[in-house]
Amino acid sequence: MRGFIERALKKVPRMDIEQVRQLLYTMAADNERIEAVLDSTTDGLAVCDEDHNLVLYNRSAERLLPFRVGELSEKPIWSAIEDDEISYFLRKSLRDQDKVVDREFTLERGGQSKTVSLSIMPLVSEGRVSGNLVHIEDVTEKRAKESRLRRAESLASLTTLAAGVAHEIKNPLGSISIRIQLIQKAMKGKTSIECDKIERNLDIVNEEIARLNRIVVDFLFAVRPMDTQLVDADLNKLIRELVDFMQYELEYAHVSVVLELESSIPYLLLDERYIKQAVLNLVKNAIAAMHDGGTLTISTERKDDAVLLTVRDSGVGIPEDNLNKIFEPYFTTKETGSGLGLTLVFKIVKEHGAEISVSSREGMGTAFTIQFPVPQKEKRLLEYAARNETS
Ligand SMILES: Nc1ncnc2c1ncn2[C@@H]1O[C@H](COP(=O)(O)OP(=O)(O)O)[C@@H](O)[C@H]1O
Ligand SMILES: [Mg+2]
Repeated sequence: MRGFIERALKKVPRMDIEQVRQLLYTMAADNERIEAVLDSTTDGLAVCDEDHNLVLYNRSAERLLPFRVGELSEKPIWSAIEDDEISYFLRKSLRDQDKVVDREFTLERGGQSKTVSLSIMPLVSEGRVSGNLVHIEDVTEKRAKESRLRRAESLASLTTLAAGVAHEIKNPLGSISIRIQLIQKAMKGKTSIECDKIERNLDIVNEEIARLNRIVVDFLFAVRPMDTQLVDADLNKLIRELVDFMQYELEYAHVSVVLELESSIPYLLLDERYIKQAVLNLVKNAIAAMHDGGTLTISTERKDDAVLLTVRDSGVGIPEDNLNKIFEPYFTTKETGSGLGLTLVFKIVKEHGAEISVSSREGMGTAFTIQFPVPQKEKRLLEYAARNETS
């Protein structure tokens, strides 16, 4: 198409007025066709030039973003947006030349709330960056569907969890009942009673009540819905911070840490608080599995369309019979374990659209691997970078 125009332009000096008119008609028709295509896509597109001025946007962009009415061109795109948060975000990202993938914003309009996802990509023409493309997607329905699915999933696991709680509660209740019977027996037909006998039993009753309370608190923690907010995050940085944070605990347990972090892994969509919690749980289990110390290896690597995070220990390992039970709520082999650590890890992993797997050999050690999906647009950016490197 561009070739055709270039060729035609060269001929313009030799054309008569009718031929020039014909050429303009053709170009106008092409232009209209392109505009029609742009306007009929449901995704919003806005194009800025090198000075971040808004030069083009389609109908969906107008529908999805709160543009100020009036003259839009000749000024930076952020001053054309009425929402402060989005305006600030665009100004910062475009000025700092940040690549942005699926940053989500919630907009309130006419009493309805809408979630839009914004991505910023460099606009390449003739081998050089000539501005930016802002891609806007309405993800309201997608997010609602995801949370409906998650709710259904968590309802199913709730049944298992409830069965677990019932089972857990039986023992302390039995113990309380025995202790009360003993107290009643000690009191029977007596006018004065030996207090120390009763005191001992009451101590046990109190301990059991505390245990029951812990079960209920842990249960609520496990079933509470998560409010994950996924944003672009640097997984390697997160891991370094976590290892720093656990330094003393690791030293105390004589565990040496090996980090094999691939520096070129892309940004991932993570809720850092929750991912830190999940990795922390895995590391704590690893420490507990290495009674006399050992080596903890944490690695990240890119593999096809995923990023793999592996937490490996040189501990006691997991017997094969237990491998399919460890993620179940309340499964523990520890005297004071809650059995909820890996249940929570599993839940967090699922919230991120990721998968977790485990491999273990008794006496050799255990490795947990979380497989994170690489965000779609991140993939496109990487492909673009790779193309430029080779060309
Ligand atoms: N790295 C590991 N090495 C050996 N066993 C493990 C490891 N991680 C988990 N397990 C086993 O899985 C069980 C469940 O783990 P978890 O859900 O974190 O509960 P808890 O740590 O309270 O026991 C543990 O009790 C242990 O038997
Ligand atoms: Mg644990």
